[in-house]
Amino acid sequence: MAHSLLILPGDGIGPEVMAEVRKVIAWFNRNGMSFEVSEDLIGGAAYDVHGTPLTDETMASAQAVDAVLLGAVGGPAYDSLDFSVKPERGLLRIRKEMDLYANLRPAQCFEALADFSSLKREVVSGLDIMIIRELTSGVYFGEPRGIFPDNEGGRVGINTQRYTTDEIRRVARSAFELARRRSNRVCSMEKANVMESGVLWREEVQTVHDEEYPDVELSHMYADAGAMQLVRWPRQFDVIVTDNLFGDILSDAAAMLTGSLGMLPSASLGAPGPNGRPKALYEPVHGSAPDIAGQGKANPIACILSFAMALRYSFDAGDQADRLERAVSDVLASGLRTADLMGPEGGTPVSTAEMGDAIVARLES
Ligand code: IPM
Ligand code: MG
Repeated sequence: MAHSLLILPGDGIGPEVMAEVRKVIAWFNRNGMSFEVSEDLIGGAAYDVHGTPLTDETMASAQAVDAVLLGAVGGPAYDSLDFSVKPERGLLRIRKEMDLYANLRPAQCFEALADFSSLKREVVSGLDIMIIRELTSGVYFGEPRGIFPDNEGGRVGINTQRYTTDEIRRVARSAFELARRRSNRVCSMEKANVMESGVLWREEVQTVHDEEYPDVELSHMYADAGAMQLVRWPRQFDVIVTDNLFGDILSDAAAMLTGSLGMLPSASLGAPGPNGRPKALYEPVHGSAPDIAGQGKANPIACILSFAMALRYSFDAGDQADRLERAVSDVLASGLRTADLMGPEGGTPVSTAEMGDAIVARLES
């Protein structure tokens, strides 16, 4: 039975990095696996055609496939659009309606790129942490929200941070499960010193730990201290679990530690369905990078590694994921560099497509 994949390239550099992922998928199709790929619009690209960043039909396709692969959404052309039709709304709708509550964002330092980090090599070399960001609740979705007139003739902007016991517990379980397959340590981050939702977060994570995962080492940190520790000594962490907003921020900081945002994949997973597979969407952590779109400069590695995560988490093909990750690491070690990876020590400059071709060639050998 073929695995079904829905590809949503989106905006900016999304289509060009996704073209490289298609080459990788084609390689796996020639070498023992079977993927059936369909493609559709999301974000600004969908808005241009349909007047909405995600149609109901595309939403239904996303619900029906084994996994969704997304490029990126957004761009300056859409900045002045109403909130309800902004490209980002398409992505937020997919996350919410597929109930993809656990967002896995690895921050891994490739040896060949250790000098690229803004931190010293000895701080980032060998770095391998996983941030699990809650993705379907918190201040991103809490009500009430909006901009309202206040009583003094001014306006007031309101967003609501809201978490329920169940929302916290299920993402905590994802973190503990993952930690067991890694170094068995979880650090939970919130602001329990100033927010009630943070107090609840801390208590519920602790309860899930004590009742179900006492073998995993659990610590708690305030998110601001966590940000500081991430840049001070990131290797102290294994798995970090945190809420939607803190996770958005901390994962960007962690990404930069590894040298390039263009390197980092992510997986957004929901509850396992009847077939045992979680609902799943895979996307690079980087955005649509409109400033370099269409020039063949984008680094396709984050998107290709997102497909590696799909192999691991959706298709039970951890060995194939390892193989793809090794191919990426070998190609980097051989000195090939897209523009974002060009440092003082040089390397062989390559385009988006050349990088994709090199990775496929490496898979072949
Ligand atoms: C991310 C992005 C999104 C977010 C935007 C594009 C809505 O920053 O995936 O981290 O804030 O979640
Ligand atoms: Mg972000």
